[in-house]
Amino acid sequence: MLIDSTLRESGLHALLRRPVTRAALVAFCAMASLVTSLPVRADASNGQVQESEPSFRVEPVSGPSLLTRVRTGIASSSFGRLGLQGRVPAEIAARFPNGRHAADDPGWWMDDGFELSGADLYRLNCRSCHGAVAQGLGEVIPSLFDPIKASSPRYVQERMERRGRSISDEVAEKLARGAELGLRHRLLKGGQTMPRFAHLEQREVDALLGFLEVLSGVPGERATLRVRQPAERVGEHVVMATCLICHDSTQGRRRPVADRDVPALSSFTVDYSIEEFVRKVRTGSPEAGKTRGRMPKFPYLTREELMAAYLYLAAFPPTEDRRQAAEN
Ligand code: HEC
Ligand code: HEC
Repeated sequence: MLIDSTLRESGLHALLRRPVTRAALVAFCAMASLVTSLPVRADASNGQVQESEPSFRVEPVSGPSLLTRVRTGIASSSFGRLGLQGRVPAEIAARFPNGRHAADDPGWWMDDGFELSGADLYRLNCRSCHGAVAQGLGEVIPSLFDPIKASSPRYVQERMERRGRSISDEVAEKLARGAELGLRHRLLKGGQTMPRFAHLEQREVDALLGFLEVLSGVPGERATLRVRQPAERVGEHVVMATCLICHDSTQGRRRPVADRDVPALSSFTVDYSIEEFVRKVRTGSPEAGKTRGRMPKFPYLTREELMAAYLYLAAFPPTEDRRQAAEN
């Protein structure tokens, strides 16, 4: 395949295993933009290359962190900390298998991209705040079960019946559709403090809702949806939804970080090797065998997803604000 051989010949695979120097980073970014401009192809498992899906529009992360915007300190917020609370029941996890097991080729994620299920999209975008099974946290972060149930016609009807009222199928449909529009609107616009997810496309939201329906015990047909996407898009999910909660895009002290510092997203690909970066996020410190402390650990993000986040930060350097991002 074209993408495959170009990347291997360019040495990009090898580059990703070394600390990235400035000069190497420039070459890296040039290659990465080539990756994005090429559509990600489906596997040719039966000797036939499938049509590629329309590609995703990837944008750099920009502006201050969520906590800076809402003027909350890291110590006094639960945002970004709920990912390890709750556990997806095994029978549900089995319905959302991981799309990739190419252990023999460490570069698969870069060449072929990822195949995300609704469970993956939830994990990458929502889990750090709403918890592993969308359970939320008391008054601070709502559980997502009620809004999901409200968007199921059958559930709406049953609830009305329990209250001794019956409504027609048509009315139940309408109420449910209204509730789902509300949910989608919430993602587009964000909430009082919840960030916006305006960059999510309909096919991504559909798959995500499919997972939430299964979690909430609501019948639906979207559970089997999967979305193929390039590594940069996966990196964008990770950085926009989780890292931007605490890290400003460009403001922040450089390495080494002291007690009160939270480094900027733009410093990661300059100050940390890809290994240090992955180790920090999964275990709590860039140095092997240590922990630093104030940042939560995210062992539920895979190595490949975090390498994709690094690639995204290198290929789409974080900017001060959105206008600047548009001009570049
Ligand atoms: C940074 C933390 C954070 C992330 C990430 C986050 N949310 Fe939220 N969400 C909240 C908070 C806080 C509220 C309630 C207060 C508000 O409106 O801001 C909320 C409310 C909601 C509500 C409304 C619930 C209700 O009962 O009205 C929905 C639906 C929702 N979130 C869905 C999602 C989905 C889907 C994702 C992932 C794509 C997501 N959220 C990611 C923090 C977050
Ligand atoms: C809840 C807040 C929070 C979230 C969410 C968060 N970080 Fe951090 N991060 C911190 C703090 C605080 C530090 C400073 C060092 C410490 O206390 O761990 C830090 C430090 C770092 C460092 C510097 C390593 C070091 O300790 O020298 C890297 C790299 C990093 N974060 C990457 C990420 C990535 C990637 C994400 C998203 C997957 C992320 N962080 C999400 C709070 C957060």
